[in-house]
Amino acid sequence: MPELVDKFNRKIDYLRISVTDRCNLRCIYCMPGEGIEFKSHQDILTYEEITIFARHAVQAGISKIRLTGGEPLVRRGIVKLIEYLSSIPGLKDMSLTTNGVLLVEFLSDLVKAGLKRINISIDSLDDSIYQHITRVGDVNRVKKGFESALRAGLNPVKVNVVVLKGINDDLKDFVKLTFDLPVYVRFIEYMPFSENIKSDFFVSCETMRESLKNYGILEEASLPQGAGPARYFKVKGALGTLGFISPMSNHFCAECNRLRLTADGRLRTCLFSDEEIDLRNYLRGEAKAQEIEKLIRETLSRKPKDHLVHQKEFIRKMYQIGG
Ligand code: 5AD
Ligand code: SF4
Repeated sequence: MPELVDKFNRKIDYLRISVTDRCNLRCIYCMPGEGIEFKSHQDILTYEEITIFARHAVQAGISKIRLTGGEPLVRRGIVKLIEYLSSIPGLKDMSLTTNGVLLVEFLSDLVKAGLKRINISIDSLDDSIYQHITRVGDVNRVKKGFESALRAGLNPVKVNVVVLKGINDDLKDFVKLTFDLPVYVRFIEYMPFSENIKSDFFVSCETMRESLKNYGILEEASLPQGAGPARYFKVKGALGTLGFISPMSNHFCAECNRLRLTADGRLRTCLFSDEEIDLRNYLRGEAKAQEIEKLIRETLSRKPKDHLVHQKEFIRKMYQIGG
């Protein structure tokens, strides 16, 4: 198999594709409540263009793809894209990160299209806290989606929780969730992406782990498929696990294996760098395999060694990159 290696000798085999910057929620740490300008339809890559890119990327050495947003399930026809991508020869793993609002409607089609595993973002299991964080969301809908993902046998089902100081930093409901369900809960440190958004949300993973001591002894747990940068623990006897993702306090740049494609067709060198290479015109023309592979390699040659956490404001926000 061909390999993609960057100039710091990191093997890059994981592509995150943001399919839209739109979302049906308005999480307080991610977007303002109103007045956001989203990309127009003409600006974003078509499913054919995304698939062409993904084929070239897999030929070059990518073996895992994740679809992100905004919220990927709000883009019309998304199941078709999953079908196209799942059938790319050589692609070993295809997954999706969703806020779960539309999961109940989509789940059986997603499974039919070839989806094997899923990450669902649920920042609180409590009705009113969830509503406060998402501004418009109903946690009961998301819980139903989550339950149907487990019932459908998706494995692993991971739950992403961005922990915000004083808002959802009481983690006991999530700990309880792992007692009886084979779910991978991952607590994520808040990353400040914009000065316009309050940044005193931050809670470190160390503080989170400390707060869990009362619920039983945490033991190291085995890793799920696509474990990524989280460290996993479990409460003795629990079916599920608790993971901690610390992009801020302990960044995992040395093991970074990622490449990111934005909905409007730019390849990003790093989540925390605004450096991008524009592929859209290549994909809209008669893109040649060598040209696309050359651009992938060029992007990787500019991949920074580690990230600039001191930077305060990014041109692109998280909902435009997909995490
Ligand atoms: N810090 C940490 N995580 C974030 N996400 C979105 N914005 C931020 C942020 N500023 C999370 C989403 C989702 C994943 C794709 O990234 O909640 O779980
Ligand atoms: Fe949407 Fe995710 Fe941003 Fe919440 S965090 S507004 S679900 S893109």
